[in-house]
Amino acid sequence: MSSMSDPFDFFSRRCVWVHGPIIVGAGPSGLAVGACLKEQGVPFVILERSDCIASLWQKRTYDRLKIHLPKQFCQLPKLPFPEDYPEYPSKEEFIRYLESYAKHFNINPRFNQSVQSARYDETCRLWRVRTVGTGAEAGNWNAEVEYIGRWLVVATGENAEKVVPEMEGLAQFGGDVTHVCDYKSGDIYRGKRVLVVGCGNSGMEVCVDLCDHDAFPSMVVRDSVHVLPREVLGKSTFELAVFLLKWLPLWLVDRILLVLAWLVLGNVEKYGLKRPSTGPLELKNTQGRTPVLDIGTLSKIRSGDITVVPGVKRFMPSKVELVDGQVLDVDSVIFATGYRSNVPRWLQGTDFFSKDGYPKVPFPNGWKGNSGLYAVGFTRRGLSGASSDAVRIAKDIARVWKEETKPAKGLTACHRRCMSQI
Ligand SMILES: Cc1cc2nc3c(=O)[nH]c(=O)nc-3n(C[C@H](O)[C@H](O)[C@H](O)COP(=O)(O)OP(=O)(O)OC[C@H]3O[C@@H](n4cnc5c(N)ncnc54)[C@H](O)[C@@H]3O)c2cc1C
Ligand SMILES: NC(=O)c1ccc[n+]([C@@H]2O[C@H](COP(=O)([O-])OP(=O)(O)OC[C@H]3O[C@@H](n4cnc5c(N)ncnc54)[C@H](OP(=O)(O)O)[C@@H]3O)[C@@H](O)[C@H]2O)c1
Repeated sequence: MSSMSDPFDFFSRRCVWVHGPIIVGAGPSGLAVGACLKEQGVPFVILERSDCIASLWQKRTYDRLKIHLPKQFCQLPKLPFPEDYPEYPSKEEFIRYLESYAKHFNINPRFNQSVQSARYDETCRLWRVRTVGTGAEAGNWNAEVEYIGRWLVVATGENAEKVVPEMEGLAQFGGDVTHVCDYKSGDIYRGKRVLVVGCGNSGMEVCVDLCDHDAFPSMVVRDSVHVLPREVLGKSTFELAVFLLKWLPLWLVDRILLVLAWLVLGNVEKYGLKRPSTGPLELKNTQGRTPVLDIGTLSKIRSGDITVVPGVKRFMPSKVELVDGQVLDVDSVIFATGYRSNVPRWLQGTDFFSKDGYPKVPFPNGWKGNSGLYAVGFTRRGLSGASSDAVRIAKDIARVWKEETKPAKGLTACHRRCMSQI
């Protein structure tokens, strides 16, 4: 293990001593921890690889996106959505809310700082977090900085990197190929035959958007999927599930949801949407597979505007062969094949996270590791899970902060000549 006693390593890059926690990621999770720490009077720094807050929402989502869950499940701690916001805020409204959230709590992340590695230095009992500058305009392109502090909060999200599966023949396909994180609207697909690979919430919604722009989408459903109505009798299905879970076991709530889905949506299996044998909530809890909340895809499947097709066998020039032997002519491919955490790539020397980049300990206990390590937003429970992590983390750090500021001050003094401080 490297240590601060390695003089070449230690002096080769700019070092910054951080009073309080180092938070990696300025998405909703990082902002929520920041706001809760502000309330407790604990200073911190947020490192963000992008040039803005909530970069997933600002840069890697499509235009028509609205929050699928009622707003009370998506607001961050300490500051509710404005009262005039609709039940399901749009992407723009959500971003506006996050910007006012950051402003309200005076949170100023360090942008264009991509964390390359973070490691706990046993000798000094401090976290050493190395970043590389990503903003050419800021003049810090490739500049390396090492942030050093007592606590590390991982807030890089469940959707940090896109997943694009390797598929036979894709290089020979010849048409345009994109991931849904780069899709904005169906405008450029007008009149085109588009293969959408994946039937999660993204794949289903992008198919509707393609129809609205006079494109011809085929949606790949390689296995099974739970589709639920977004609302039942004007009430959010999600809200209903949360309410029922207070009184009933999960398996029974799953049964109720499936009966309601059948009543509202009918038998979806006849359209090629086979249901998994495990219930929707149990599947989410055990495998992290999110049920799809229908916002119009089913009616477009029923009307034949969206064609459901089985898995992809291989691509050929301007064509795709499916596992059932069908060959389709295709102009464009959109991968809506999901995302993954990037934590294993940069967090070193701890077994708190598993290989898939999620804390090994499941919700609600996966927020705290050893040696001042914390994780926020890895609960597979969206924004409400992130909020509950954030409140716990800030409380925990504030408690220790009050006890430990004195020893930290001693350390600061000893390194004052070689480090800047924030
Ligand atoms: C299309 C889409 C719609 C969604 N809709 C909903 C919804 O309606 N409700 C809901 O609850 N959830 C939704 N989600 C889930 C989503 O994960 C949360 O909304 C929310 O964005 C999670 O916040 P986060 O801060 O944990 O992660 P993110 O929003 O992903 O933020 C993480 C931040 O960390 C930064 N980062 C990553 N790696 C590094 C690094 N190495 N160094 C520095 N910075 C780094 C990223 O640039 C990013 O800004 C949606 C997800 C997607 C993809
Ligand atoms: N408005 C909203 O609130 C909204 C909108 C969009 C997304 N989201 C959220 O964002 C997160 C990501 O959603 P997402 O839909 O982008 O990803 P996702 O939920 O992970 O879905 C990925 C889909 O791709 C399929 N897939 C993966 N590899 C494949 C392959 N090789 N061949 C065929 N299919 C393949 C998966 O099928 P299998 O299931 O068979 O693996 C799944 O259907 C989720 O939490 C989701 O709820 C929310």
